[in-house]
Amino acid sequence: MSIETFMGRKRDEYDPPVRGDRITGERYYSREWMKAEWDHLWQKVWHVGGMLNDLLEPGDYVVHNFMRESVVMIRQDDGSIRAFFNSCLHRGNRLVWSEIGGADLITCSYHGWKWGKDGVLVHAQDADDFPGGNPCGKARLVEIACDTWGGFVWYNMDRDAKPLAEWLAPLPEQLAGYQMESMRRVLHVSCEVPCNWKIIRDNFNESYHLPTLHPELADIIDDDHLDTSFEMYPSGHNRMVQKGCQPSGRLDLPDAVEPALAEVLAAWELDAEQFAGRAREARKALQQAKRELGKVRGYKHHDTMTDSQLTDYYHYTLWPNLTVTMSPDGFQILRSEPHPTDPEKCIFDHWYIMPEVPGRTEVVTPVGTVPYDHAEKEVVVYGTKTLGYVADQDMSIAVGQQQGLHSRGYAGGLLTNQEKRIQRFHELLNDALGVPRG
Ligand code: FES
Ligand SMILES: [Fe+2]
Repeated sequence: MSIETFMGRKRDEYDPPVRGDRITGERYYSREWMKAEWDHLWQKVWHVGGMLNDLLEPGDYVVHNFMRESVVMIRQDDGSIRAFFNSCLHRGNRLVWSEIGGADLITCSYHGWKWGKDGVLVHAQDADDFPGGNPCGKARLVEIACDTWGGFVWYNMDRDAKPLAEWLAPLPEQLAGYQMESMRRVLHVSCEVPCNWKIIRDNFNESYHLPTLHPELADIIDDDHLDTSFEMYPSGHNRMVQKGCQPSGRLDLPDAVEPALAEVLAAWELDAEQFAGRAREARKALQQAKRELGKVRGYKHHDTMTDSQLTDYYHYTLWPNLTVTMSPDGFQILRSEPHPTDPEKCIFDHWYIMPEVPGRTEVVTPVGTVPYDHAEKEVVVYGTKTLGYVADQDMSIAVGQQQGLHSRGYAGGLLTNQEKRIQRFHELLNDALGVPRG
């Protein structure tokens, strides 16, 4: 079988077979699963550690706490970035507590040992009082793999890990046109959500829920699965492309211009009236308008984006826990990480990252209008504040699913074809953990 997708690519190249392993409920709540994931998954994959915008000068650092581990990434004098486990070699005190900062030396709060940016010990109290001699200049923090891409610093606890660029394939090539590294994080919220991290993964690995959970999107995003491109890559990452600025083919009146589309048309100086009864022609017209007006308005990133990228949604789910949703004017990071101790909770992070445009002082984000400025991290208590209106809809169902998956009435999933990315995710996970198939 070889079917051309609308992106002009061969579907079967990116449509690997699945086995049909049962997706048992236990994986969403068992402590054994949680431990197996720590042992066989999390210590072997690349993690986003933070933004390069926070690592401008030598000594600048970012810290990423993951379950009970903590990693500090530090900009070096030669411009490189190195990552170390954030634990003092003396007696194990956590060294750096703030998630962003800068210092020439890291001083341990317990006995005052001082560590250089390169992880080498430069000062210890009573340095001559060690049976093996003075440890200064010899003791080194444990270093792990570190690299950069897309405006982010990444780390991997496995020093024998595949290089980041290879692990990310084919994203760097496909996303080069967006100029991600030149953008600014304008939204940064983090929340402990009462569900296992994989429930959020499953949600982002399918678009089957859009008509039921996010029906309002259909006026402006074509959520018809027959008009959506799904690709699953050998790396374990996958991509879904939906046409934007185009009403869904599922709608009773797909040719009507609803207010959401009219607003986008107006923003690009197109008259909604002209598209009355032929709304599905608006997408191409918008691409043209953005191409021309974008230059005048200083949208430099448009120069390197394709026509499709000017209107469409390129939604990537990276193995195992990172979603990167590329929109025409920015992108979202939607990440779910396991809770340090409770398999029925996770940490959900939502970032929105947007390009610089001359005169841009405010931007519309998933939580509303905010200043176009580097956002500080906000930790939200679940249910007390929005995490973004679409994310709120997703999280609301995730919590109920966590309950239902405990039931003896749930037998392991009954998926549609268009949810194949979920099936593949769980089979990759089974393989990584060495779980018997079945
Ligand atoms: S534990 Fe760090 S100096 Fe003692
Ligand atoms: Fe959703």
